[in-house]
Amino acid sequence: MAWSVGVAAQADQPGPARQQELLNMLKHDCGSCHGLPPKGGLGPSLMPEALADKSDDLLLDAIQKGRAGTAMPPWQPFLSINESRWLIARLRQGWLP
Ligand code: HEC
Repeated sequence: MAWSVGVAAQADQPGPARQQELLNMLKHDCGSCHGLPPKGGLGPSLMPEALADKSDDLLLDAIQKGRAGTAMPPWQPFLSINESRWLIARLRQGWLP
C-alpha cells in the first residue's frame, strides 16, 4: 500500500502493530475532540479538504506541542515525530474509522 503524499520520513514509518495502535488512538483520543470521522467538534476538522492548505510542519507542531490556550494538548510524550507525520499523511488521505 502506498502512503505517498510528501512525507519526508517514508523510511522510518511505524511498523504494522504500531500503525494499528496509532489508528486506535486517532479514533479514541483524537476522535473525542475532532469527531469520527474527524469533521470537527471541539477541535477543528482534520478532513483532507480542511488540511489541504496547511503545511505538514504546522500540523506537526500542533500535534507535538499542542496549542497553548486551547483544548489541544501536546502529544509529544505519546507520539514520536515520525509517528505524528505518519498520522498526518493518513489524515490527508481521508481516514475512516
Ligand atoms: C481535548 C480535545 C482535543 C484532543 C483530544 C485532540 N485535539 Fe487536536 N485540537 C483541539 C483543538 C481545540 C484544536 C484547535 C486549536 C486552535 O484553536 O488552534 C486542535 C487542533 C489540532 C490540529 C491543528 C489543526 C489546524 O487546523 O491547525 C491538529 C493537526 C490536531 N489538533 C490533531 C490532533 C490529533 C492527531 C489528536 C490525537 C492524537 C488530537 N488533535 C487530539 C482539540 C483536541
